Amino acid sequence: MKIKNICCIGAGYVGGPTMAVIAQKCPHIKVTVVDINEARIAAWNDKDLSKLPVFEPGLDDIVKGARDRNLFFSTDVDKAIDEAEMIFISVNTPTKTYGKGKGMAADLKYIELCARQIARVSKTDKIVVEKSTLPVRTASAIKSILDNTGNHVQFQILSNPEFLAEGTAVPDLLNPDRVLIGGDTTPEGAIAVNALVEVYENWVPRAQILTTNVWSSELSKLTANAFLAQRVSSINAMSELCEKTGADVDEVAKAIGMDSRIGPKFLKASVGFGGSCFQKDILNLVYIAKSYGLDKVADYWEQVIIMNNHQKQRFSDNIVNTLYNTVSGKKITFLGWAFKKDTNDTRESAAINVADNLLSEQAEISVYDPKVVAERIYADLDYLNTRTEEENKRLLKVSKDPYQACNQSHAIAVLTEWDEFTTYDWERIYKNMKKPAFVFDGRGILDQETLENIGFVYYKIGSGVE
Ligand SMILES: NC(=O)c1ccc[n+]([C@@H]2O[C@H](COP(=O)([O-])OP(=O)(O)OC[C@H]3O[C@@H](n4cnc5c(N)ncnc54)[C@H](O)[C@@H]3O)[C@@H](O)[C@H]2O)c1
Repeated sequence: MKIKNICCIGAGYVGGPTMAVIAQKCPHIKVTVVDINEARIAAWNDKDLSKLPVFEPGLDDIVKGARDRNLFFSTDVDKAIDEAEMIFISVNTPTKTYGKGKGMAADLKYIELCARQIARVSKTDKIVVEKSTLPVRTASAIKSILDNTGNHVQFQILSNPEFLAEGTAVPDLLNPDRVLIGGDTTPEGAIAVNALVEVYENWVPRAQILTTNVWSSELSKLTANAFLAQRVSSINAMSELCEKTGADVDEVAKAIGMDSRIGPKFLKASVGFGGSCFQKDILNLVYIAKSYGLDKVADYWEQVIIMNNHQKQRFSDNIVNTLYNTVSGKKITFLGWAFKKDTNDTRESAAINVADNLLSEQAEISVYDPKVVAERIYADLDYLNTRTEEENKRLLKVSKDPYQACNQSHAIAVLTEWDEFTTYDWERIYKNMKKPAFVFDGRGILDQETLENIGFVYYKIGSGVE
């Protein structure tokens, strides 16, 4: 079965880049990305490529090459579903904020709405691909909705989780370590799996395309995120011990990373992981384990989150303690608000909690981030509901210039590892700060010797006093 027409529901951080790359690599396939968010679709169609709703290095060029050729962005969901042979579901699956499983389980209401819409609209057989990260066994729920409300159309459900990392989405999509496709073990299931394999084979070597049963594929995605987050929490746990013992976490990470059984990646200590996925996927895993009565398994994975929350809290506590136990009325500058460099995504960013803690101590915060807009920063804080929107606006200012953001500050906190922070004129920044001038490097990216020679009091996460 040759696919000629693909629809993707959800034009977010996954749907947009993933479909742009499919369109680039498969010029013979028409790819339509649809979303109910009109502003988002308008931004994907904006002539000015700097206005795309997702910032990823290299994405603008790919969109430029494929858009209006075989890549389309639209709000007409029904039409795109009707025309497609293969439909990717790439909508958000946040943690539930209500009812059973509140604060833990994945909220599948958007997935269910998609399934019902596909069932209502489809007049021809469809392959439905779960691109969103879903709890294991969700495919059976989708199948049940499709089979019971459809127009006697045949549906095949595939699981094809996305492993891209924000900030490196384009290279990750162009050269994936592996592509995972889970499908039914029936002959019809095998045909559907093969149709998707053929799409990826346009640029991914066959040996890197793994096919499994649906449940293994769904669970592998949660497992991958749990293992990755666990590495971060493991090195962050060590960062605190390093600070007490005079060890340096970067040296420890290097020493252990050279062990081929451990490997060097994902061992950079930080103020804590963020992003839309790690926390929600681990909580989801914990919820699933609990629902099967596997309490020890649930407790084991929950500890990764507990450690992460602790890391954020101790970073802000350290700022308060170091600034003579009070930050009330003091200006603290945040360099970075995004959850990592090279993205404009702020979901679950450590900066949000650190700011909230410091604002509760009556600090005045000034934020500079190269890619995050002021409205997003205020929306992140307002969402916590800790204080009124007016208070957040009064206590936190967003600056478009890093030097202005640092002017007359008592302390600078580095929350995101943007490369440009390392190239600043730190002498100039020092001159315009209150003294003693503190830097709290939550990402360990600045050069300690240079900063100390200038006169800063420098704290690097995971670096102890010898
Ligand atoms: N962000 C990542 O790095 C990443 C990586 C791998 C997997 N994932 C998974 O991919 C999924 C999507 O994540 P994301 O970051 O792209 O989310 P996102 O919030 O950026 O995008 C989701 C989009 O879906 C749209 N949507 C929701 N319901 C819809 C409906 N019924 N019809 C049409 N559009 C609808 C929303 O308007 C939104 O624009 C999640 O399950 C996530 O866990 C994310």
